[in-house]
Amino acid sequence: MTPEELKALVRTVPDFPAPGILFRDITTLISHGTGLAASIGHLARMAQDAGAEAIAGMEARGFIFGAAVAAHMGLGFVPVRKPGKLPVKTIGIDYALEYGRDRLEIDPTAIPAGQRVVIIDDLIATGGTALAATELLRTAGADVTHALFVIDLPDLHGAARLRDAGLTVEALMD
Ligand code: PRP
Ligand code: HPA
Repeated sequence: MTPEELKALVRTVPDFPAPGILFRDITTLISHGTGLAASIGHLARMAQDAGAEAIAGMEARGFIFGAAVAAHMGLGFVPVRKPGKLPVKTIGIDYALEYGRDRLEIDPTAIPAGQRVVIIDDLIATGGTALAATELLRTAGADVTHALFVIDLPDLHGAARLRDAGLTVEALMD
């Protein structure tokens, strides 16, 4: 399936989780078997071109795509987690969301020093989540140069913020 065909599988829900937000919901994309497989195939090709040696994905929706891409490529997956979930000593960072604040944590020992880690998430809005993940992964010694998304919301300028941080940003659709 082409990215245009995949875009038709994503539904838009008004006023979720707050009034005025037009929520792009991937539930309808990932419940479509061919659509899910094609999304993973496109992202895996992009990650291959980026020279990925490992994939990192952000909880929760980034786990769906990131872990599938990693398995497809035979690479390891680094979970970037919401706070208090990992049972070991973590490094963490607080960040702003389009609608609120949150915190991400990783196990810094999950990444061999200098490894090229490609970030994958379902969607980039303000870019706060991906920027926070980039900073954490870099602190742990990863070589982070690419962030890949299923959906970019260009009006929120997240991709531009990531490019300012030296990342190559690609998305299957806007
Ligand atoms: C959503 C989405 C991205 C992030 C994008 O996750 O999956 O991770 O927000 O927003 P940003 O570019 O403005 O940072 P959310 O924190 O809602 O968590 P979820 O995956 O658990 O639903
Ligand atoms: N849709 C889905 N997830 C999101 C959005 C959105 O519009 N904004 C931030 N996370």
